[in-house]
Order: sequence, then C-alpha cells, then structure tokens
Amino acid sequence: MVSTPVSVASVASGQQYLPVLSENPSPNQYSLPLTARLKGQNLEIGGCELPDLAERFGTPLYVLDEETLRQACRQYREAFLQHYPAESLVIYASKAWNCMAVCAIVGSEGLGIDVVSGGELHTALQAGLKTASMYFHGNNKSVAELKLAIEVGCTIVVDNWLELKTLVELNGAAGQPVPIMLRLTPGIECHTHEYIRTGHLDSKFGFDPEQLDDLFRYIAQQPELNCIGLHAHIGSQIFELQAHRDLTRVMVQWLKKAAAYGLPVTELDIGGGLGIRYTESDDPPSIEAWVNVICQGIIAACEQEQVPLPKLIAEPGRSLIGSACVTLYRVGSQKTVPNIRTYITVDGGMSDNPRPITYQSVYRALIANRMTAPLTETVRVAGKHCESGDVVIQEAQLPETAPGDLLVVMATGAYNYSMASNYNRIPRPAAVLVNAGEASLILQRETYQDLMRQDCLPDRLLRSSGSPVA
Ligand code: LLP
Repeated sequence: MVSTPVSVASVASGQQYLPVLSENPSPNQYSLPLTARLKGQNLEIGGCELPDLAERFGTPLYVLDEETLRQACRQYREAFLQHYPAESLVIYASKAWNCMAVCAIVGSEGLGIDVVSGGELHTALQAGLKTASMYFHGNNKSVAELKLAIEVGCTIVVDNWLELKTLVELNGAAGQPVPIMLRLTPGIECHTHEYIRTGHLDSKFGFDPEQLDDLFRYIAQQPELNCIGLHAHIGSQIFELQAHRDLTRVMVQWLKKAAAYGLPVTELDIGGGLGIRYTESDDPPSIEAWVNVICQGIIAACEQEQVPLPKLIAEPGRSLIGSACVTLYRVGSQKTVPNIRTYITVDGGMSDNPRPITYQSVYRALIANRMTAPLTETVRVAGKHCESGDVVIQEAQLPETAPGDLLVVMATGAYNYSMASNYNRIPRPAAVLVNAGEASLILQRETYQDLMRQDCLPDRLLRSSGSPVA
C-alpha cells in the first residue's frame, strides 16, 4: 500500500486526518516525525506501522524516528556553516535523552555532546563518542565526577567557586592544565515555564557576572586550569529570538574582558533552548532562523567590541530530538462522569512522561489504528498511576476509542525517557529506533527483575523459614 505524509495541520483542524503532502518537511514544522505516513487506517513511522510495533515490542513504547533526528542534526550543522564564517560546533544536550543509540547517532552526524553527570558521561563514552567534543556541565559535580572528567579529558563547564578550587586541587599534580569553560548567569529573562528558566540572576546555575574580574584574575594565576571558553544557557522551550540575540551581546562583552586578563578564551557556548511545537498554537522559529540570529548577533558584537570571532558552540536538546519520537500506549478502561467528561486510561502516564504533571505541558494524541476515523470525542486521557494528577492530556480530540486501541502521543522525544521513573513500581517502557522499515530495540523494557535488582531484604527481616516477618 502507498503511504502518504501526514500533516499536523490536518490533525489540528479537528477534521479527519486528511493526508497533506509536504515538499520540504522539517521536524520543527510538525509534531509528528518526518517519516509519518498513513497506511490505510494505521499510522506508520520510519516505515513501520505502529500496531505492528505494539504487537512486537509491547506498550507503552517510545518510537524514535532516526531520520527526523538525523535531519535536525544536519539542519543545525548546515545553518552554522551557512551563517558563521569561523569555527562552530553543535553539541547535543543529552539530558534530553541520553542512551547509547542516541549518543551514537548524534556523534555520527558530527555533533559533540553535553553531559551533566557521571552517568551521562559514562553512557556517551560507552557509545564511543570522542571526549574532544564532550562538555561536562552541572552545578554540583562530585569529586568522583570531576576526577572522571579530568581522566577522560573532556571540557569541564565550571559552575561555581567550590568546583573551580576543587579542580585546582585535583589537577595540582597532573601537569596538563585541565580545559574548562565558565558558566555565567547573564541576567536575561525569557518567557517559558519558571522551572526551565535559567538565565535570570536568581538562578542556582552559574557565576554571577559581577564576579568576572575576580574570576578571571584567579584563573589567570592557576597553571592547573586552561580557561578556553565561556558558557550561558537562558532556558528551555523558548520561542522568542530576542532573548538569544541579547545574550550574544552580553557574552561578547565577557569575551573581551577575558582577553584583557590574558586568558586564552576562544570559545563561546550559547547554550540551547529553542522550543518545539507540541500543539497547534506553538509557533517556534526554525532551527535555521535561531542559528542565524545567534550568528549575526555574535558577528555584530565582535565587530563592535573589536574582538576576533570565537569558536561558536550551541547545545540544543529538545529541538534535536523532541519531535523525533512518539509514545505508543494501549487504551484500557474508560469512565464517563455524566455531564462532566469521559476518561480514557492508557497503560502508562506520569512514570514515562512526567512533563504534564511537572510543567503542565500540553500534548496532542492520535489513535494509531484509526487514523481516518472522524474526531468526534473530547476526552481526558488519564495515566494508570495512583495519583489524580496523572493526566497525559487534559482535553484530547479523538475518534471513538475502545479498549485495545493504540493511542499515540506526539513529540515525546525530549525529557520523557530521561525523566522517567518507576513510580508505583512500574517498569520503564522499551524504546525502538525505526528507519526504513526496520525497528531496532534501543532500550529494553524493564522487568520486575530489574526492579528488584537494587532491592535488599536484610536477613533480620526474614523468619528462619525464609519468609518475611509479618
Ligand atoms: N544546555 C544547558 C546547560 C541546559 O541546562 C539545557 C537544558 C540545554 C542546554 C538544552 O536545552 P534545550 O535545547 O533542550 O531547551 N526537563 C525540562 C527541560 C529542562 C532543561 C534543562 N536544561 C522539560 O521537560 O521541559
């Protein structure tokens, strides 16, 4: 059967899912992955029909489209090549989704990687990523994490004085100066959820720029440290370009100050933050527009401040992987509260996607096995956890659904798997990577044995018979 691209516009219009051909789709334009197609009644992604994937791998299931992720990586890299005349590097903020397969894909597209813990660093190393383009963030790195970072030779993005001084001590005997960047809080506000704003001065992250002179003076006297760059990140899921434009000017002023102290600072890392479309009312700028604003901002500011162009680094997470994944759930029980609403319940929820309960995030869903049915129902999609707030979607426009149908939630690639938990002792879902009709398991579904792996029952709680004390 011939398959047809699906546009989110047809989904959003509340009509039937009319197939709309798109000449030049981009992950930013749609909530669905680029390879989404209609195949009869079924939704197909990466050449795999979702009902088949549900049969083969079970539900809930994260379905990651390789093509969409690769295209987003290329869009970032090509935009920098087009708009920035000096060296640039795109590093993937792997907190959005850190696992070996994702690390390997972004690495193979020529991206570097940003890690924020020993665990993320370890995973990236296991995936074979090179430490030369690995940047280690975090506002409270442990001594063990710092030692690991020094040992493998990645760049450490230093967040505070304690870390700076610990690094001097740790690296005292090593001989080789450790490459560092400094994270600064630029004092730039942006419009996004307060939990994911980081650029304002009252933030737990980064040095206060008021301390720049003290900082540069201190670092200039430490042969153990090689300060190669400056970093700032103002927040996440941002649609306005002005905040990043303002950031470029501020960062170039910092760069100029570093030169005055004789520091070899040649890299500016502008952070991530570009938002994606979760619903039809979200209208994010394209990757190209975002990169262009940043490049033009840096170029203009460097001209004004008379400093050479730095190596320019950006570290997007959500805009690389967010739209590349959907979560597939099986519909279970339903309940109608007369004159109020109907609830339909799926076999996952806040343990595989904590974003709605944490940030009141809004998602859109489709029924993957009834793609051409008319959208006649407005229902609340609830999760299966013992918590009233466990709602996946407050108001979903869906066709009539029955137990066993497959509900697919779009744009779940960023901060879903990475923030998943075992709340209610629910095993985490599996994830498959789809491409050209092939589905490869990239994360196994957790089992009860996995849940028990860290669980210890002290001997004194056992009766002599071996059964637990009542
Ligand atoms: N760089 C740094 C230093 C960051 O802290 C972050 C995200 C990024 C880059 C990537 O930002 P992105 O391009 O993904 O916006 N859990 C929240 C998002 C937290 C973002 C944390 N930092 C959510 O689910 O919305």
